Amino acid sequence: MAVNTLEVRSLTKVIGKKKIVDDVSFSVKKGEIFGLLGPNGAGKTTIIRMIVSLIKRTAGEVTVNGNNLDGQFKKTMSEIGAIVENPEFYKYMSGYKNLKHYANMAIKEVSDERIMEVARLVKLEDAIYQKVKTYSLGMRQRLGVAQALLHNPSLLILDEPTNGLDPQGIREFRDYLHALAHEGISVLVSSHLLAEMQLMCDRFAIIEKGKLIHISSMKETMEEDEKMEVIFEVSSSLKAVDVLKGQLSNTDVKVLSEDQFSVNVEKATISTINKLLISKGIDVYGIRTVTVSLEDRFLEITNKEVKEHGGVMQ
Ligand SMILES: Nc1ncnc2c1ncn2[C@@H]1O[C@H](COP(=O)(O)OP(=O)(O)O)[C@@H](O)[C@H]1O
Ligand SMILES: [Mg+2]
Repeated sequence: MAVNTLEVRSLTKVIGKKKIVDDVSFSVKKGEIFGLLGPNGAGKTTIIRMIVSLIKRTAGEVTVNGNNLDGQFKKTMSEIGAIVENPEFYKYMSGYKNLKHYANMAIKEVSDERIMEVARLVKLEDAIYQKVKTYSLGMRQRLGVAQALLHNPSLLILDEPTNGLDPQGIREFRDYLHALAHEGISVLVSSHLLAEMQLMCDRFAIIEKGKLIHISSMKETMEEDEKMEVIFEVSSSLKAVDVLKGQLSNTDVKVLSEDQFSVNVEKATISTINKLLISKGIDVYGIRTVTVSLEDRFLEITNKEVKEHGGVMQ
């Protein structure tokens, strides 16, 4: 069985009397981009700081490539590259010199070739000899990732990496994160922005008030909803609705215009409706599903949790 790159088991942090992180468990597979999603103050940064050993765990275990942080600290840490706080760079030095400086402090030996390799990986090769003060925010962010990747870690951890980036910067960032994952690097990334996580991650966990309240793949989350809204374009929506009301009693049908109506149905029912309409001489010109955004799903999931566990949402 393949070993997960990262395994977090029952991670807990208590400060004073408050449980800031409460029994959080998840794993990140090789080459996977895994998201920690949750509102500000949920505990994402605290989880990350415990994984990278910036703060002590109250309880719980962390393993990277099967090595336990408690037993093999140095080995485990050498597999992790992280940006937790904004990395500091010398603005009057080039990107290259900054990386060289970090390379000299790295846990493992870092060759000059490796410096150029990471510069290429984060698409900074053309600007690497320019002073950092000439870099855009996005370029500085990428230099931060380059620095985190210098010692060739198998796990990259980024806490709210797109904060302060413009939409173009966020898009570029996402693209090269996918490229890194494609090279086999696993990524743990946190954000409070749902739409962004939807595009960036393969799987995600929702963290709320220190607890992990939901975990699933992006694909599942988008597909697990049994019913979806589907819009049909037809020769006559009134005739179509008459047919459906007679044949599919429990279906929620809405007329949108003369030639469009919507239904809320399971996937299999779409083809049933299509066949039914055609058999009654109604022409079907188009069928499209209205996709549910992660934001809708997120609200659904968190509202359900609130109802079930009596929590209070801000
Ligand atoms: N050192 C600390 N002492 C007391 N409370 C803290 C400390 N660090 C974080 N917290 C609290 O823990 C909660 C989670 O914080 P944090 O992990 O930064 O959340 P997030 O990164 O999801 O915004 C917040 O309520 C925060 O105020
Ligand atoms: Mg945070």
